[in-house]
Amino acid sequence: MNQAFVRFPRGFLWGTATAAYQVEGNNTNSSWWQWEQQPGRILNDDKSGLACDWWNGRWKEDLDRAAETSQNAHRLSVEWSRVQPEPDRWDELAIERYRSIMRGLRERGLMAMVTLHHFSNPIWLEEQGGWENPETPLKFAAFVRKIGEALKEYVSYWVTINEPNVFTYTGYLEGKFPPGKKDFNAAMHVMENMVRGHALAYHALHEIQPEARVGLSIHYRSFKPASSSPLDRFVARIQSAIFNDLFPRAAKDGKIRFLYRSINVPEAAHTQDFLGVNYYSRDLVSFDITRAPALFGRLRYPENADLSENGFIANEPEGFFESLKWGLQYEVPMLVTENGVEDLEDKMRPRYIAQHIHQLWRAVNFNWPIKGYFHWSLVDNFEWERGWTMRFGLWGLNVDTQERIRRKSVDLFADICKENGLSSEMVQKYCPEVLQNIFPD
Ligand code: FCB
Repeated sequence: MNQAFVRFPRGFLWGTATAAYQVEGNNTNSSWWQWEQQPGRILNDDKSGLACDWWNGRWKEDLDRAAETSQNAHRLSVEWSRVQPEPDRWDELAIERYRSIMRGLRERGLMAMVTLHHFSNPIWLEEQGGWENPETPLKFAAFVRKIGEALKEYVSYWVTINEPNVFTYTGYLEGKFPPGKKDFNAAMHVMENMVRGHALAYHALHEIQPEARVGLSIHYRSFKPASSSPLDRFVARIQSAIFNDLFPRAAKDGKIRFLYRSINVPEAAHTQDFLGVNYYSRDLVSFDITRAPALFGRLRYPENADLSENGFIANEPEGFFESLKWGLQYEVPMLVTENGVEDLEDKMRPRYIAQHIHQLWRAVNFNWPIKGYFHWSLVDNFEWERGWTMRFGLWGLNVDTQERIRRKSVDLFADICKENGLSSEMVQKYCPEVLQNIFPD
């Protein structure tokens, strides 16, 4: 057998990512909690309930698991609706609890990356029009200031907004996230206000903590035209321009480019110290006249794709390399802030991890400025409109008993983190089916 080992630079960050609403439980003041109560919104009408019970303290045991398996960083989020349950009230006890979680990260040797908006809004904000309301960026900035002050001694990396592109598409074009709209005009307002909110948050954090590193996490999809027809090519181009590029370009040069108009937001220029890349899969896209709200794009996976359990993700590791190549144009360091696959039985995950880490190494080997990798996720968690049907954790979760189930991917990822690299022995041990693909004879 080939003996091979691919190594990452010293100090590379290895961790997992989570989001408050998905792990804390009982986030009753969030727009998502209300959404869950409406029949038909979540698959099987699943409820987040206690989620992974982090708010009652189970974050401790899960972060122990992360540290014991050689991770050195963790990405998590702060839930706005907990910190500001009503427009004129800060919950100081909730903030204190977040401080103790941050201390817990430090005690375990986990570098903290904190996301300030991960899909969930306070109910009061949603009632005022959410991100369609031009006042929302200011309100977001006030919340960011409050948290910046409270957590600055513990946090090195801040993600202002997680996947503003997914938030807008899913909530305002596809109607699957709250507020369930299909309205391109509303989506444009939301995108503009999110750029403004991000810019205000960036400046606020730098005022509070000059050495802060602040950025956005973008869900990147490499849209490939499904055929050579000009319409498919056109639709792939516009999907990519809006979905992938609108936010990081605005954060680079202060200009929002919609299809037929642009808006100058000068305060957004140079507001990314790093680019967060979330990569899961890549799609073929074709023109479909019936899909007007979703910019006329119909997405599908290639024939014979290596599909995840529910078909939600195709294992396309080369797309990961493409995502990092795409990120280079923004000329800032990159962090992979999410990457993973839904897989209850853990049949695909080991090879998905090994193949993606191998592509990551290829990119690092070109000396592209990539500083770390966060796997989604540490433990199965509440998967938004797909409820509990999709299991992304290294550890499984029994939702009824809160018991954690150690999947074999835990050990593969632990070996990668510990060795700061990937070896042919690891691949042979955990996913021999891709040994020839990763380390050919
Ligand atoms: C991303 C989200 C994350 C999780 C994964 C599977 O789009 O940021 O919260 O749902 O997908």
